[in-house]
Formats: sequence, C-alpha cells, structure tokens
Amino acid sequence: MNETRFNSEYTERCRDYFKTEYPQGATFFIQNEGCQMNSLQTETVAGMALQMGLTETTEEQNASVVIYNTCTVRENANQKIYGHLGGLKSIKRKNPGLKIVLFGCMMQEHHVIEKIRKDYPFVDVVFGTHNIHKFPELFYRSLMGNSQIIDIWEDSDEIVEGLPTARKYSFKTGVNIMFGCNNFCSYCIVPYVRGREKSREPVSILRELETLAAQGVSEVMLLGQNVNSYGKTLDIPVSFAELLKEAEKVEGIRRIRFMTSHPKDLSDELIRVMAESKKICHHLHLPMQSGSSRILQKMNRRYDKARYLDLVDKIRTAVPDISLTTDIIVGFPGETEEDFLDTLDVVRKSGFDTAFTFIYSKRTGTPAAKMDDQIPQEVIRDRFDRLLSLVQETGRSRSARFTGTVQEVLVEEENREKGLLTGRTEHNLLVHFPGDPSLIGTYVPVQLDTCKGFYYFGTVKRGS
Ligand code: SAH
Ligand code: SF4
Ligand code: F3S
Repeated sequence: MNETRFNSEYTERCRDYFKTEYPQGATFFIQNEGCQMNSLQTETVAGMALQMGLTETTEEQNASVVIYNTCTVRENANQKIYGHLGGLKSIKRKNPGLKIVLFGCMMQEHHVIEKIRKDYPFVDVVFGTHNIHKFPELFYRSLMGNSQIIDIWEDSDEIVEGLPTARKYSFKTGVNIMFGCNNFCSYCIVPYVRGREKSREPVSILRELETLAAQGVSEVMLLGQNVNSYGKTLDIPVSFAELLKEAEKVEGIRRIRFMTSHPKDLSDELIRVMAESKKICHHLHLPMQSGSSRILQKMNRRYDKARYLDLVDKIRTAVPDISLTTDIIVGFPGETEEDFLDTLDVVRKSGFDTAFTFIYSKRTGTPAAKMDDQIPQEVIRDRFDRLLSLVQETGRSRSARFTGTVQEVLVEEENREKGLLTGRTEHNLLVHFPGDPSLIGTYVPVQLDTCKGFYYFGTVKRGS
C-alpha cells in the first residue's frame, strides 16, 4: 500500500542529521526542466529541503545536495539530464559526500530507471511524479545507508494536500488545479508519466487562493494539462468556468491566469466568463499543434482546422484585445507539404502573439512512435524555419499593437543589466522601464513607448 500522507517525522530526522554532520551548514541546488506544473513541484521539493535544514544555493559545484526535476516531453530534455549527470559524476568523484536526487516525469519511464541503475549508480535518490511527498523519507533512508534508493509509483488516485513550498516570487504563483491527463494525444508522453486526470476539490483550491492572498500573492496562474476539462472527474462535477467564477471572489487576488486550454473543451461558458471578468487576464494559450484536419485526427486532438479557427473567431469577438498564444508541432508522422501549408494558413489567420514551435520528437510507448512515414530531418528543418519566420513576423506586429498605450504592469524584478525594472501586462507582454526596486510586487501604470519585437520599453505614467 502506497503511503499518501506527508510524514514530517523524516523531515525532523534529516534536520537532526544535518545539524550534527554539517555544523557549518548544508546546502542544496535545485534545477527544473519542463512545464509550469513541474516548476510547482520543484518549489514543493525545495520547500521540503528547507524544512529538512538545508539552505538553497545557486552554485551547483559547491552544493551538498543536487536535485533535478526532470522532463521527458521531447528527447532533448532527456539528453540534457544525461549530460548533467556526466558532469555530476566528476564532481562526486572529488566530493563523495555529495548527494544526487532525481525526480519528475523522466523517472516514470522504465527504460530510464534501468539506465540509471546500470550507468549512473552514483545517483542517490530517485522518485517520480506521484510521490514527491516521500522525498524526506527517501532522502533519510539514503543518508542512513549507501545504496541507491529508487521509488516510482505507476499512478496514484490521491492528491496529497498541504505540502510545504518555497515560492520564487512572493506576489505571484502557480496553483495546480488538476494533475495528469486523459487525452492521449498520439505523440505525447505526458499521460503515461503523469497518470490519469485528477482534479483537486474546488474548496481546497479556493482555500489555497485565500491563504496565498493573505500572504500577499495577487497574481495566480491556475495550472493543469487541460484546465478546460477541470472538475469532470470529481464526485460532484464542477466546470472550469464555475471554478473561475469562485476564484474571482477571493479578495486580494487581482489577476487570474490559466494554462493549458485544450481547444476540444473550450466552452462558450468559459469565453463568456473571460469576457465578463475583471480579474481574468486577457491572454489565452490555445495549443493548435497543427493546422491540418488530417494530421489533427492522427494526433487524436479531437478538433479540426475549421473548429480551431471558429474558436479563435469566437474568443476575439468576445474579448477583442485578447492575446493569443499557441504550441505547434512540425514533422508529425505523415505530414505532407499540403498539411504544413494548412498550419501556415491557421497561423496567418489566427494572429498569434507568440507561438511555441517544436520539432516532432518520437516518444517510446506513444502510438505516433509506431506510425509509418516518419518525416526526414531535412524536410522538418526546412518547414520549421519557414514556420518560425512566419510566427516571428506575426508575433512582432501583433505585440506592437499596444504601442503608445498605458497598461497596468505587475513589476516582477530588477533588470540588473540595464538598470531597469521588468514587469508584465495582463496580456503577458514584458515591459522594461526605469523605476525604483521598491515597486517590485506592485501594479504600476506604464506607457509602452517602443516595441522591441516581443517586449517593450516604457515609462511610468502616474495619474493617467
Ligand atoms: N497539455 C498541453 C501540452 C503539454 S506539452 C496541451 O495539450 O496543449 C507542451 C507542448 O509540447 C505541447 O503543446 C506540444 O506542442 C509539445 N509536445 C508534446 N509532445 C511532443 C512531442 N512528442 N514532440 C514535439 N512536441 C511535443
Ligand atoms: Fe499531452 Fe495531449 Fe495531454 Fe496535452 S492534452 S498533455 S498534448 S496528451
Ligand atoms: Fe515535461 Fe512532464 Fe511537464 S514531461 S512538459 S515536465 S508534465
């Protein structure tokens, strides 16, 4: 039976260990790969590490514990981790006391675990995506013995609430509203490594929002692989639009973002809530993946080109200043030049502010990996370059549409190189402007003077 309770006893034991064995203090270095949901789990593990008596360092070379949260959505994410491990091997040779911890999506793959057992015996602790609450216990077991500790759960029905966290910003954060994915897009490994879709109870989410607001957080990003299907698996089903309406009532929360919206589940109700809301940011990330109905069907996306364009139309009519962003895959098996031209056509018609473009990556175990007609690299490269120049051109002209206007900006950090502050508009556009660092975490009216492609230079406009 898997233990789905967070046991703080092991946190205490680790703390005692570090106090005795490292009187000068022990440190941890943590690195995240992958999506925002992964970053949130990184913050949770960092939160546990702090409670275990470690302090965070940004210098990997000198850390007592090195922790990687891994991603496996595309092959290059895996290669990056193997590259890092090669480097860590030589650090550990010089410093045998170094503890190495790996967790996250890549660890849910059997072939990865086999490789770690065989080729990377110097890795100390390995866990997956379903049992991060076990980190203190697994780590403590590793401290007490020398063998490699590996604990991977295939899936989990339960969501462990109330874990510690170390947030990067004090004024904005992500909030998981659901875990896993049931969509099985034919190219995608996420459903295999994140398990079945599970929604958090609305009351847990709302309670978390209230706590965050009380702690000074004013911007939240509600996160899930497909937020539009939020609530369907709950005993008392709730729609995402209903959750948003409740979230809006939380005092102190000023901006609400969400990610990711699957086009097949984007409801009219959600569009209406967005249009009527004072808090939901006018930014929608709506991954299209391909513009070709034929390829979309092979991808198992369950919408076609016409439906996607129709959704874009609907959302632009309801929220005219919406900023639209998307994800696109180039080179899915069987993609012809004609299919690719459909993708370019949807990009031209949709006017994306930003499009994240990916080269199709074959993931072992997914249906697409077994499809005939994998596309040659040089064809993919050529299409990728053509797509990139179109999305950059469109993005540049779309982003410039706010030039000269005054927008409310949440100030995020000091931009040291240029002696400027950096913030974000509700449309998710970055703005650099002169100002005092005391403004960090506050909302400031900024005139967007010049557009530099994907960001602006601006000036604070008080009283406007
Ligand atoms: N749940 C989100 C996507 C999460 S993965 C959604 O459905 O929109 C983020 C992006 O990675 C995807 O939108 C897709 O464009 C890309 N991606 C996923 N698997 C991929 C693969 N095998 N090769 C290339 N890109 C991939
Ligand atoms: Fe992957 Fe599709 Fe699920 Fe997104 S919706 S995580 S692309 S399977
Ligand atoms: Fe990567 Fe896992 Fe996210 S595979 S994209 S970190 S869900």
